[in-house]
Amino acid sequence: MIAIIGASLAGDMAAATLRQEGYAGQILLIGDEPEVPYDRPPLSKEALVGDAPENRLYLRAESWYAEQGIELRLGAPVMAINPTAHTLQIGSGEPIKYEKLLITTGARARTLPGMETSPIPAYVVRTLEDARHLRAGLQPGVRVAIIGAGVIGMEVAASAATRGCQVTVVDFADRVMSRILPPDLSAYMAELHTSHGVTLLLDAGSVSLTPTGISTTKRGDLEADLIVIGIGVVPNTELATAAGLAVRDGVIVNEYCQTSDPDIYAAGDVTRYPNPFGPGDIRSENWKHAQNQAVTAARNMLGKHEAYAAVSGMWSDQYDVKLQTVGNIGTGTTTLRGEAKSRKFMLIYQNEAGVVLGALGINQAKDMRFAQGLVEKRASVDSALLADPKQDLRKLGA
Ligand code: APR
Repeated sequence: MIAIIGASLAGDMAAATLRQEGYAGQILLIGDEPEVPYDRPPLSKEALVGDAPENRLYLRAESWYAEQGIELRLGAPVMAINPTAHTLQIGSGEPIKYEKLLITTGARARTLPGMETSPIPAYVVRTLEDARHLRAGLQPGVRVAIIGAGVIGMEVAASAATRGCQVTVVDFADRVMSRILPPDLSAYMAELHTSHGVTLLLDAGSVSLTPTGISTTKRGDLEADLIVIGIGVVPNTELATAAGLAVRDGVIVNEYCQTSDPDIYAAGDVTRYPNPFGPGDIRSENWKHAQNQAVTAARNMLGKHEAYAAVSGMWSDQYDVKLQTVGNIGTGTTTLRGEAKSRKFMLIYQNEAGVVLGALGINQAKDMRFAQGLVEKRASVDSALLADPKQDLRKLGA
């Protein structure tokens, strides 16, 4: 029996892959949330703005799991793993025997002191339950203070502004989306938000919750009717640590997604893994990584010996902008393809030898697929050709 702890994207994808690869044994997919596995990226976007029913967020139809013979245990927190006995325990239940185990417990949102007891509604945005509460609060005219100008903060800012709220985003960093974007793109996204009426309070010093809103050490105090906290995530490593697995800001896995116990694998946000494109090990927080690493982990659990080497990337939808990245961005020489001031352009990053390291696109969904191909091939391309939008990116790396 293969058990998977964590019924979100990575766990779900691994279960599907096990079946696709012909595994006929029992699969137990365990989640602590009560929901059918759902997609998280829409929680800060469509789920706050659109009218689609919630089941549109489900990764698969509810009936799919039974059809595939995948036993889905929801609302079922795993309390312990015993690697020696090859067992895990759900709630206060009897130990369940596994042959191989996959940990896909993901990450949880970081919070600020006082969030739980705040007299003003204060939310993080990580679960469907979080999004339900937040959606109900985003009424026209409501003063929304967002702490954290990262991916979640800026996506919620766009959603709240679209809903007619008065939005202020506060961060101790001096630019938006600083974990993901190079400075010039932070400036571009900041301008996009201010043009939609969002107020940015950056370089704000230390931020704390007050009974009437928030307080900052450098930019004064702010009254609010609703607070959103998007200050990063913490990997859910507690089970792995208690089980004696190697953990360091993430469950340590090798390139085959195997933890320090040979029968326990891990995939997704929770892992720290060897960087396929550079020295050392990294933890990645993005959808594509969770999906790709889960596929590799599942295949390796069935005896394949594949190193995980997928090119990373992310996307974010804010207003009419689809921002996408692939590979390593912000380093090396930068080539602009298109008009920088427009709502449609690409930046391509190369090393001294002309090898394409990464790309960033604004409303360039199609070309970004070809840019990903160049990164995957480690293609060396003349930057003058990359800069010319009339040149077909598909042909340039050939
Ligand atoms: N006070 C103010 N700002 C803070 C604080 C704090 N105490 N701590 C962190 N920040 C800011 C950081 O400077 C950064 O701008 O919060 C922002 C966090 O941004 P991200 O790292 O992008 O994290 P977040 O937006 O929370 O996204 C969490 O969800 O969609 C996924 O890929 C995304 O994995 C990421 C996760």
